Amino acid sequence: MDLMHRALLTALGAMSVFYALVKISLGYWKRRGILHEKPKFLWGNIKGVVSGKRHAQDALQDIYTAYKGRAPFVGFYACLKPFILALDLKLVHQIIFTDAGHFTSRGLYSNPSGEPLSHNLLQLDGHKWRSLHAKSAEVFTPANTQKLLVRLSQISSRIQRDLGEKSHQTLNISELVGAYNTEVMASMAFGLVGQDTEEFAKWTRNYWADFRLWQAYLALEFPLIARLLQYKSYAEPATAYFQKVALSQLQEHRRRDRQPLQTFLQLYSNAEKPLTDVEIAAQSFGFVLAGLGPLNATLAFCLYELARQPEVQDRTRLEINKTLELHGGQVTPECLRELSFNDLTFFLETLRLHTPHPFLLRRATKEFEVPGSVFVIAKGNNVLIPTAAIHRDPGIYENPERFYPERFEEEARRSRPAAAFLPFGDGLRGCIAARFAEQQLLVGLVALLRQHRYAPSAETSIPVEYDNRRLLLMPKSDIKLSVERVD
Ligand code: HEM
Repeated sequence: MDLMHRALLTALGAMSVFYALVKISLGYWKRRGILHEKPKFLWGNIKGVVSGKRHAQDALQDIYTAYKGRAPFVGFYACLKPFILALDLKLVHQIIFTDAGHFTSRGLYSNPSGEPLSHNLLQLDGHKWRSLHAKSAEVFTPANTQKLLVRLSQISSRIQRDLGEKSHQTLNISELVGAYNTEVMASMAFGLVGQDTEEFAKWTRNYWADFRLWQAYLALEFPLIARLLQYKSYAEPATAYFQKVALSQLQEHRRRDRQPLQTFLQLYSNAEKPLTDVEIAAQSFGFVLAGLGPLNATLAFCLYELARQPEVQDRTRLEINKTLELHGGQVTPECLRELSFNDLTFFLETLRLHTPHPFLLRRATKEFEVPGSVFVIAKGNNVLIPTAAIHRDPGIYENPERFYPERFEEEARRSRPAAAFLPFGDGLRGCIAARFAEQQLLVGLVALLRQHRYAPSAETSIPVEYDNRRLLLMPKSDIKLSVERVD
């Protein structure tokens, strides 16, 4: 047999094995006899998502709409990976709350020995996550969150400065809120102030520089091989920078006694059973990873929606200024409590309509029989809870495309099941910093709204489009609005 012939046979053999493997992968739900969306070769049910032609949320929304009401869940494939899409609120409640012990994993890739900053709360599973979560729960208490308010208010004054004194102008709102949230992260998660935050801001934009979706996909599918090959999720110069800064700030903190409490670094390092310094650095990085995108998106979308609802905006400004006056113009914990979400229902409505994390991920750590049915979620199955699709379900929220803050007035809110509104997830693996994030967003909104009015300008894209290259729901291009100073 000549060389050419042999090469041809080998290629044919390899292609047949590959074809058979794809067919076996895409036959998982059929073999299990579970209702599922018919997959396309290689792409499964997310064709167009990997190439950026459509957003992952659109693919999930289509499956949710097609199968809702037919079964508690439906099977689908993200490329070759089988997933369960939860359809029924009762099942979502069981997964998130009542039977959360069966679903403590998220199934993301992490490699703490090769990439120490991946040892963070968001990425870890199993006993490592459990022990980290217990220690982090001591940090994110309501009392500690309240203590960080003083520093947060100081940072929010930059918003007034950035808004400037001009009476009328068109501003890039995404940049404005991004600068505030980045400074909060630099300060709270890394203890940085002033000049240092500029370099920090640069790295927060660059740590995904080497990201390749197909590599990340392979790492998720074959984590053992990825670890052996030392696959890195983030650009190495960026993680080196974040680690160096966190370690030097921790040393600085220990050198200087009796500083006012201003950072998560201090809280972690003062804990009774502290983490190692590198583990603390990994948490700080994890907060940038988990928090910065949704914070930026939420604040920008809040202003975008308020700009289109001048009455709600004016009412909110009045309420903010009335409450501030009662508290000597200071954003105190009492002031925030009084403002609460009853006056700021638009904030919850923004999180409903533009849910930053459009889905929650869980991996079954034990077999789960769906109560009252014949359905079984097998150990190791990946489960996806389509929060954005639930938030836009006309059976739960009437006329869901409409921005209508009244649906979050107390009585209306109480009439809906807890699983109908999950912008921060919930239960064991819910957002550990949800209360802190709300505080940060409220302080930002007070600074943004107290003296300025927002309206759409010629540069505002309406309706807003989402960026297909991101898994989060983020605006495709920066949100720009006309801003007017009001006294
Ligand atoms: C608008 C702002 C934010 C939103 C909408 C948000 C939303 C979420 C969601 C949906 C999850 C997954 C929850 C689940 O699977 O049930 C999550 C997890 C997490 N978030 Fe947030 N988040 C925000 C801000 C933040 C901030 C500011 C931080 C850090 C300071 C943070 C830290 C985390 C961490 C560490 C996790 C993983 C928790 C775990 O697995 O134990 N988040 N967040």
